[in-house]
Amino acid sequence: EKEGYDHFMLKEIHEQPRAFRNTMTGRIDEKGKKVIFEGLSLTSEQLMQIDKIFIVACGTAYHAGLVGKYVIEDLARIPVEVDVASEFRYRRPIVTEKTLVIVVSQSGETADTLAALREARRLGAKVLAITNVVGSSIARDADDVIATMAGPEIAVASTKAYTSQLVAFYLLGIYLAQVRETIEEGERISLIEALEKLPEQAEEVLSYSENIRTFADSIKDHKSLFYIGRGIDYAVALEGSLKLKEISYIHSEAYPAGELKHGTLALIEENIPVIALATQDELYEKMISNIKEVTARGAHVLGIALAGDTELHKSTDEVISVPSTVSLFTPALSVIPLQLLSYYTSLALGNDVDKPRNLAKSVTVE
Ligand code: M6R
Repeated sequence: EKEGYDHFMLKEIHEQPRAFRNTMTGRIDEKGKKVIFEGLSLTSEQLMQIDKIFIVACGTAYHAGLVGKYVIEDLARIPVEVDVASEFRYRRPIVTEKTLVIVVSQSGETADTLAALREARRLGAKVLAITNVVGSSIARDADDVIATMAGPEIAVASTKAYTSQLVAFYLLGIYLAQVRETIEEGERISLIEALEKLPEQAEEVLSYSENIRTFADSIKDHKSLFYIGRGIDYAVALEGSLKLKEISYIHSEAYPAGELKHGTLALIEENIPVIALATQDELYEKMISNIKEVTARGAHVLGIALAGDTELHKSTDEVISVPSTVSLFTPALSVIPLQLLSYYTSLALGNDVDKPRNLAKSVTVE
């Protein structure tokens, strides 16, 4: 079943271009360059009324939600709060009939996410589920479902489910913007064109991402490392860090790069590995100066940049570049080298890549 790959995780990383295509299929009207969600029970009138969105999930799905917040706020201009399901369910969230709660879950069976969904419905919110399993408990209990079409994900470390959740958020963001008329037609068309290019761009990233192996070998004996980024890159940094922890058992932390000076910089010492994401044009200069702060203290830096970048090479030890796309869409590409970094690090350490210690694929108990 691994189709020639050594592990499910590697296979699933390579399935991402297909998962992107399948998640988009039937949801884009080619003529009008519009997003269509057939069978959605939420009406345009209801979507017009929403004044607040909660995105609730666990683990990697929560990280996809962090990207979703950027996407929805930027395109549809609706305030979004992202919450970990085990926190949301035990506080008194301010939820009304005008709140839309989006739950995100690969398996559709995560106990905390399911409980959060039920609590949100009890409070009168509409619940939309983004899930990879259409027959799951979460899919059944939600008012509406956007299925990610990633196919079965076996490895405990989620890869293709995460990026498919991102694609679902891109479609949803454009859809909400369409309904609420918060973007111009021209912008919508270029967003859809950029979205449709993502599968082949992901293929391109996969074709050269093996280069990450040398960096993986260089970090395998370290006790600790850092991921830094700003804006949407910070959301990706969190996911990269979680991926590494899960399967390599190396401690890592993700930081918004602007926060370094407020404490973490004290931990930067000679040779400590730092993975720095710098894919956001608007934040680029700021990122370069943050990178200089860590290199000045001897950090060994891997940069993730956009193709054509010339600056980053000067301030980092190695650079992996990803093709240019709309800035909101870069996470779907920039996370791929990070997934491979954790894969190869785990492999180099001789760990059980697909079944890391202490973890289960689906967390059906609290
Ligand atoms: O099935 P779900 O998406 O609800 O699972 C949520 C988390 O348990 C899951 O994403 C977990 O963090 C993964 N092992 C991450 O790779």
